[in-house]
Amino acid sequence: MSKERSVGILGTGRYLPERVLTNADLEKMVDTSDEWIVSRTGISERHIAREDQASSDLAFEAASRALETSGVAAEDLDLIIITTVTPDMFFPSTACIVQEKLGAKKAAAFDLSAACSGFLYGASVATQFIKSGMYRYVLVVGVESLSKITDYTDRSTCVLFGDGAGAAVIGPVEDGMGFLSFDLGADGSGAESLKLPAGGSRKPLSKVEPGSRDNFLYMSGNEVFKFAVRVMGSACDRVLEKAGLTKEDVDFLVPHQANIRIIDSAMRRLGLSEDKVVVNLNRYGNMSSASIPVALDEAVSEGRIKEGDTLVLVGFGGGLTWGATAIKWSTKEKGRE
Ligand code: UT7
Repeated sequence: MSKERSVGILGTGRYLPERVLTNADLEKMVDTSDEWIVSRTGISERHIAREDQASSDLAFEAASRALETSGVAAEDLDLIIITTVTPDMFFPSTACIVQEKLGAKKAAAFDLSAACSGFLYGASVATQFIKSGMYRYVLVVGVESLSKITDYTDRSTCVLFGDGAGAAVIGPVEDGMGFLSFDLGADGSGAESLKLPAGGSRKPLSKVEPGSRDNFLYMSGNEVFKFAVRVMGSACDRVLEKAGLTKEDVDFLVPHQANIRIIDSAMRRLGLSEDKVVVNLNRYGNMSSASIPVALDEAVSEGRIKEGDTLVLVGFGGGLTWGATAIKWSTKEKGRE
């Protein structure tokens, strides 16, 4: 990447809906146990949006906090990218709804679909817009209301997912700081492994047979698991190489929060100790594209991640897709008048 214009995260924010669904609650809903869920996934509880809350409501809360911590005014945003597989509706984009809620009048707005890798895809797109000089401030929000598409009679998926939003305001930072490299990828041969079968043009909702579960998320857990373990490590290796870094340079790994066993394998591959890996899936479950920005915001707001730290963010998910980035952490904006 060019050295002239460094781009980084100026501020982060998160929002988790109030209601908490515990493993004990799930034991009453499906044939499962706290022991199975914790040992196979690492998850103990997850947050669930209210019936009247849609993704734009969650995104608005997280975005407002990110604007506050970055010191950037909503009116100064040039672009809003919402990454989600659970938009308020197919169109208009959730980004346009959030733009209106924030009063970000001059911002262009669009949604980006890359499932759990969404935030990393979004951050990469934002970075290119800023590097090119077209925009100065881009808001990226990873948001999911997965509870709305989860089948709470299917024990193989309903124990995994939660709702939430994580946001970042992206803009120019001091030279050599911010995003150092990205690695994005996709393998559409795995498209069937993780999908929402109905509701699109392949199978419109009007064609869903009574009793069908096609309007709920479907996942072949094993397939995704194998893919995840493979790409997490290789994507980390590539972003480090592109950034001219080695594993020893990494202060924190912020991985997608899907399964503790997948995170452990990435941790071992990078040779990192546990204290260098940001993990919160025990409290939130898998929030798809919201997982990484929520974990990042928690670690930053708790003072764990500090100015000058080297981070690797890595995720994988539906598509199948993956994404990773190496960051030299600094929220200091360059050239602010
Ligand atoms: O964000 C990206 C998308 N998602 C992921 O990254 C998820 C990736 N995959 C996974 O995390 C794991 O594959 C799961 C957690 C989904 C499943 O774990 P697993 O170790 O691959 O279990 P499995 O699917 O092989 O199932 C093992 C057994 C089965 O029983 P039998 O056939 O061995 O008798 C399942 O029926 O566990 C059973 N099972 C459950 N038992 C109790 C599946 N779900 C449950 C459950 N409670 N909730």
